[in-house]
Amino acid sequence: PVLVVDFGAQYAQLIARRVREAKVYSEVVPHTMPVSEMAAKQPAAIILSGGPQSVYAPGAPQVDPALFALGVPVFGICYGFQAMAVALGGRVARTGQSEYGRTPTSLDQRGVLLENLPESFSCWMSHGDLVTDAPQGFTTLAHTAATPVAAFEDTGRRLAGVQWHPEVLHSEHGQQVLAQFLYDIAGLAPDWTPANIVEESVAAIREQVGDKQVLCALSGGVDSAVAAALVHRAIGDQLTCAFVDHGLLRKGEREQVKDDFVAITGIKLVVADAEEQFLTALAGVSEPEAKRKIIGREFIRVFEQTVRDIADDADIEFLVQGTLYPDVVESGGGEGAANIKSHHNVGGLPDDLQFTLIEPLRSLFKDEVRAVGEELGLPHEMVWRQPFPGPGLGIRIIGAVTRERLDLLREADAIAREELAASGLEKDVWQFPVVLLADVRSVGVQGDGRTYGHPIVLRPVTSEDAMTADWSRLPYDLIERISTRITNEVPEVNRVVVDVTSKPPGTIEWE
Ligand code: XMP
Repeated sequence: PVLVVDFGAQYAQLIARRVREAKVYSEVVPHTMPVSEMAAKQPAAIILSGGPQSVYAPGAPQVDPALFALGVPVFGICYGFQAMAVALGGRVARTGQSEYGRTPTSLDQRGVLLENLPESFSCWMSHGDLVTDAPQGFTTLAHTAATPVAAFEDTGRRLAGVQWHPEVLHSEHGQQVLAQFLYDIAGLAPDWTPANIVEESVAAIREQVGDKQVLCALSGGVDSAVAAALVHRAIGDQLTCAFVDHGLLRKGEREQVKDDFVAITGIKLVVADAEEQFLTALAGVSEPEAKRKIIGREFIRVFEQTVRDIADDADIEFLVQGTLYPDVVESGGGEGAANIKSHHNVGGLPDDLQFTLIEPLRSLFKDEVRAVGEELGLPHEMVWRQPFPGPGLGIRIIGAVTRERLDLLREADAIAREELAASGLEKDVWQFPVVLLADVRSVGVQGDGRTYGHPIVLRPVTSEDAMTADWSRLPYDLIERISTRITNEVPEVNRVVVDVTSKPPGTIEWE
């Protein structure tokens, strides 16, 4: 792998993603990892990330010079660039001149790293210290008004670095600079492709599972579907999938899992039909937390029973979990035990059922999971589906949940999804909850008559990780088409409103 050494920047994960976008496999490691341990991972190259501190601050993380003795290509970014300069005998100074944000940068010479770049371009900077002298053997490639050495390389030793952040989109030609390092200085090949990922995972899963039986809980989401398809590709009928239909699904969702997914993959699927049970438990409840608790509790009940039924028939040893790489990095990047995800998705497991986890997506980012899904031939709608909360439409009906209300909401939601897909803007929208204000009525006029119906709220948002979000600026004509169709086609709905609240202060979901 290409190791991205994390000096405490919020950028380390992003760097790893960019390296993978260049089709080279990359992992994040903490800067506290000893060089010997890094060496044991047989890195193809090492990238030193940015970090929040001054290299001269007491206790600031340094680069162990032993790292350069490995003979592995090294690329320094921002703090990593400065730490590299210091470790190799260059000079870093605090001049009092900081650079933050977009900074005009000029070439001294192109070298290999900046080949094909224009004479001047704009880079994203965020630093107080700067490199005044490149270490011996290095060629200085670029400067800014404040920074005499903004990029350098020593192609003989396969070392290079930049003061700016090539991984952020605000840095012009950033991806190209990273690629030049990877391909032309480090000599790596772009062979981290979905086909290779599938091939490697399949081999690893076969190795881990042997001839044992495996269980996977499908949530209807992208991750569990891709994880299941991958495991199935590896071990075929040794895999059984379980899917709980709680009746709070969107239109077509159950059919998609039950029919399309099975038709394409041939997976053994057990569907637990639990609509009645959930609706009964939810009857008359409108307080959001109460609803969530009930849905969570019933889910566990149904899931446990399903697992027991399956386990009674088969001796199951492994459970597939759709853990993604960002979860792994955020929880410390360690090899430690993985948590069972939110009980709304997978279910807390009964104590007497102990499984070993298989996490085939553990090294992948979301976009890679989607690419793998496409590679495995899963339907486009499944691979590109929006995140959907475990409690489903139950928390998108403001008021008590009934079958009639669910049907209304399902229709409205399907219209919004259809029109969004038809507009080609699907990939610009992170998620598009459609909410029924079942406890609110307003007066309207339709066909010369007075109506007294419910409003539907459209809540399209953009986001990178659902931690923060902004409301999507969808084109007015798209909103108009959705609004007109919903009021025409969904009985009892006479008004459509758009939620224009960011997160914070609003959450994405209404409950
Ligand atoms: P909020 O509404 O908190 O949602 O901004 C953030 C993201 O989480 C999803 N969400 C859930 N996902 N179980 C889930 O699996 C849940 O109980 C749950 N509640 C919210 C929400 O759709 C959004 O993507």
